[in-house]
Amino acid sequence: MKKNLAIFASGSGSNAENIITYFSGNKNVNFPFILCNKEDAYVKVRAERLGIPFRYFTKEEWKDGTVMGWLREANIDYIILAGFLLKVPNEMIEAYPNKIVNIHPALLPKYGGKGMYGMHVHEAVVAAGEKESGITIHYVNENLDAGQIIFQAKVKVTPTDTPDDVAHNVHALEYEYFPQVIAQVIGEK
Ligand code: GAR
Repeated sequence: MKKNLAIFASGSGSNAENIITYFSGNKNVNFPFILCNKEDAYVKVRAERLGIPFRYFTKEEWKDGTVMGWLREANIDYIILAGFLLKVPNEMIEAYPNKIVNIHPALLPKYGGKGMYGMHVHEAVVAAGEKESGITIHYVNENLDAGQIIFQAKVKVTPTDTPDDVAHNVHALEYEYFPQVIAQVIGEK
């Protein structure tokens, strides 16, 4: 059965690109667009390169149901948050129960919640002297970074690691596992 996946990203979009490349040979999995809340985010360049329509939306369109309308029009089955930084409106969570998947660059419940995204997470992990970090892939519910965990993977943090080093190692885990976990969630594995 064909599945339509909407990918949301806010920044570089390296995960978005990795996911789309992973499924490029699978005719059952379709990406009608990449959605983004930043007009000039680098993910736009990646979308163009991949030949996937890029849709920018404003904060108002995010909240007033416009984006929700696009998802309905495109018959979206699953929503993938790949480095997406806005809180998902309750209306969308109710319309897609256990169909919205987020990746977080730390071992939740540690280093989650408001303000904990991207490099802020890795800086906090290094500042706290953590010996490990990792990735958490989880369903999205009404509470930020608190939905049911689907998968976690760990990576060592050494005393000399900088936040950039941790980011690099965490990204490697994301590239390896996020597409596979998505495949499992959507029944393509
Ligand atoms: C990724 O590390 C992702 O886990 C993180 O943002 C990065 C985006 O990188 N997400 C969050 O922090 C969500 N709270 P990318 O744009 O290159 O995929």
